[in-house]
Amino acid sequence: MSKVIAIAGKGGVGKTTFSGLLVRHLLRTGNTPVFAVDADANVNMNDVLGVEVDKTIGTVREETAKAIGGNALPVGMPKETFLEMQMEEALVESEGFDLLVMGRPEGAGCYCFANNLLRKHVDALSKNYPYIVIDNEAGLEHMSRRTTQGVDQLFIVSDASPVGIKTAARIKKLSEEMDLDIKSAGLVLSRVQGDLHPALLQMIEESDLNLMGQIPASDEVLDFAYAGRPVLDLPDDSPVSQAVAAIVENSGI
Ligand SMILES: Nc1ncnc2c1ncn2[C@@H]1O[C@H](COP(=O)(O)OP(=O)(O)OP(=O)(O)O)[C@@H](O)[C@H]1O
Ligand SMILES: [Mg+2]
Repeated sequence: MSKVIAIAGKGGVGKTTFSGLLVRHLLRTGNTPVFAVDADANVNMNDVLGVEVDKTIGTVREETAKAIGGNALPVGMPKETFLEMQMEEALVESEGFDLLVMGRPEGAGCYCFANNLLRKHVDALSKNYPYIVIDNEAGLEHMSRRTTQGVDQLFIVSDASPVGIKTAARIKKLSEEMDLDIKSAGLVLSRVQGDLHPALLQMIEESDLNLMGQIPASDEVLDFAYAGRPVLDLPDDSPVSQAVAAIVENSGI
């Protein structure tokens, strides 16, 4: 069974960077191949992973729905085969990991058939990987539609601020209300500068957020972002890489 790791949190807190760093850690520790899923409509996980994306699942869904609706499937080709071929094109294969980008959510119209097929295919595809890392948008709504599989570890990423912790607590509550079959949820503080405020630690405790660790604010990460370099290239002795290793260990995944 593959382990599903999902990353959530409010806008701009460092979710995608953390997702990339998790993939990096899994690659370096030989837990390959990793299945990276970019579930954010603003596609950007490929940047931290250093790969190009041509086709998203959104495009596959549109094209499949259009071909079926307009009776425009190639002659004699079952719709399953059509979708399978499209899916293959959407899967970005790289060294030690593959990336699937969800892209835009569906527009108006009937996509049920394409969605059901997609879900079946993502589920089948998932079985090929020991670890699946899903970078999400702040909202968790789409997670229930993604696949039938549950989540082994949800990381809620937040900055070290009272507002951040309140939002993280809300996301945790939402994930529970949505019945997403999350086995474990933990908090990751990102871009931390200096020591944590004692009141912040108390807030975390009272919010029932299980603190898994903190990632320091890092000039190296920013330098990489400006240079368009993937975080996969960060060295093992970088404080950020070490922080992620500690978080993975704490979470027990
Ligand atoms: N530990 C860190 N130290 C310094 N800069 C960081 C760190 N983590 C992330 N950043 C920078 O902060 C910015 C936002 O990070 P990121 O894109 O990972 O956030 P996000 O939560 O995925 O954002 P969005 O909600 O827009 O998807 C990026 O420019 C990234 O390079
Ligand atoms: Mg992001």
